[in-house]
Amino acid sequence: MTILDDPSRLRAADPSGMLGTVLAFPSQLAEAWAQAIARPIPRPAEPLAHVVTIGMGGSAIAADLAGAYLAQELRVPLITIRDARIPPYVGPGSVVIATSYSGETEETLAAAGAAIASGAHVLAITSGGRLADLVPGTVLRVPGGLQPRAALAYLLGATLAVFAQWGLAGSCAADVDEAAAVLGALAAETAPSIPAPRNPAKRLAESLCGRIPAVYAGGATLAPVARRWKTQFNENGKTLATWDVFPELTHNEAVGWGASPDLAGRLAAVILLAGDEDARALRRIRVARTSGLEGAVAGVHEVSGRGAGRLARMLSLVLLGDLTSVYLAYLRGIDPTPVVAIDRIKQGMRDP
Ligand code: F6R
Repeated sequence: MTILDDPSRLRAADPSGMLGTVLAFPSQLAEAWAQAIARPIPRPAEPLAHVVTIGMGGSAIAADLAGAYLAQELRVPLITIRDARIPPYVGPGSVVIATSYSGETEETLAAAGAAIASGAHVLAITSGGRLADLVPGTVLRVPGGLQPRAALAYLLGATLAVFAQWGLAGSCAADVDEAAAVLGALAAETAPSIPAPRNPAKRLAESLCGRIPAVYAGGATLAPVARRWKTQFNENGKTLATWDVFPELTHNEAVGWGASPDLAGRLAAVILLAGDEDARALRRIRVARTSGLEGAVAGVHEVSGRGAGRLARMLSLVLLGDLTSVYLAYLRGIDPTPVVAIDRIKQGMRDP
């Protein structure tokens, strides 16, 4: 029997309970949204020029996902920054959302400080830390005690509430409800009690084990979803992974598939589809598969989002990727929770 179907070995492999936290994504999303939408978030008086989000890693991806989900209806530009510096256009008229789960991330604190000094309207989304003290305006607090990447649903729910309350996009309420329901059903199908032959997350983890996952978004909307898969493979599965986006990757990445067979043979491609790609986009993916990808890499897997709305489709893929990364950690005999390399670098930067 595979370790993935052995409950006692799974419990031992995951002493901090990462799998349980991932499976709670649907309820966390519903809870975060309900709380954030119920509490009025003061809006600046002056007209908004743009929204700039700052953050790193598991905190930054919440803004990326919100931006991709709302892309077709955003009434102002949304720019995501993963850096300690902010562009010179940030100032009065800018709204800056500084997201750091810990509230202690060096780059986010520096960028938030610069944004405050620039006269921008700055909000924080955090579980606490120095960021909560730094930001004079609204602080949307999320529950503490998690790994930042495991708090995505809380961070995303709070981010969406800002856009919805301020009328910067339509109401997200129905989409959040649908996403929570679709994700709940998916969590039930991919839970540890469902044996590998019937469990899509376990099966995918088995296919990817020993390979470098190359996660390809079927279109721009899924770019942050592919990035999330990649970072979850890094942080939970403790493995290298890459990500890219159709159609852009057919103009560059595709050249590398056939030209370096020794390297490409170590990859296993995962193509993420939202389910609403048009015929031309699907044809491009098929052509890329048959004209180069399939002959070069160790395997090609396609997974599709579920649900009717864009948010459900995106987040069902996020959940599937998160679960796959945890099952991959189990297969590799690795505790999914600790991220020693990240902690070591953060500590190294704090040392005198
Ligand atoms: C760890 C994780 C990291 C952190 C990043 C920034 O679970 O996901 O990518 O998100 O190091 O830390 P925070 O999110 O606390 O600002």
